[in-house]
Amino acid sequence: MKVVVIQGPNLNMLGIREQSIYGPMKLEDIHAQMQGFATQNGIEIEFFQSNLEGEIVDRLQECLGDADGIIINPAAYTHTSIAIRDAIAAIQIPTVEVHLSNIHQRETFRHTSLTAPVCAGQIVGFGPFGYHLAMMAVIQIMNEVQALREAQQGQRAQQALKAK
Ligand code: DQA
Repeated sequence: MKVVVIQGPNLNMLGIREQSIYGPMKLEDIHAQMQGFATQNGIEIEFFQSNLEGEIVDRLQECLGDADGIIINPAAYTHTSIAIRDAIAAIQIPTVEVHLSNIHQRETFRHTSLTAPVCAGQIVGFGPFGYHLAMMAVIQIMNEVQALREAQQGQRAQQALKAK
């Protein structure tokens, strides 16, 4: 099973930008921790960061037929991007939204997420640990989807046998 992690604008500045809000950890260190957890769980994982909305839309579309789960922090695009929302809705791959900060405690323009309604869930306010929680959530969902698919396959095989 494969998870793609998509990071939006300015998240490449973690460790430098507004440390009182986002903490001291760099994005590469967050990704190294996620890589470790993925390896322990036998999950393939890929990381992508872009400051450009269209590149994030392209990367989401590339997940089709490739990824089983997505973890996304759309950063500022969370609050503005219908294009990213539509891309998540289009590909129908279980997606977990993460924010390091608790966006609901901050400026009112951050309270709205255009992307959350098309995601399986949203994790906010736990700092880098939120990505670990997102990994647990996405693995759980991927396992449930796989179990459902196997059950449906079993049912179809039984029906085919009965029809003979
Ligand atoms: C963020 C919250 C967004 O409002 C902000 O624009 C970011 C980071 C977070 O992880 O807390 O860039 O997504």
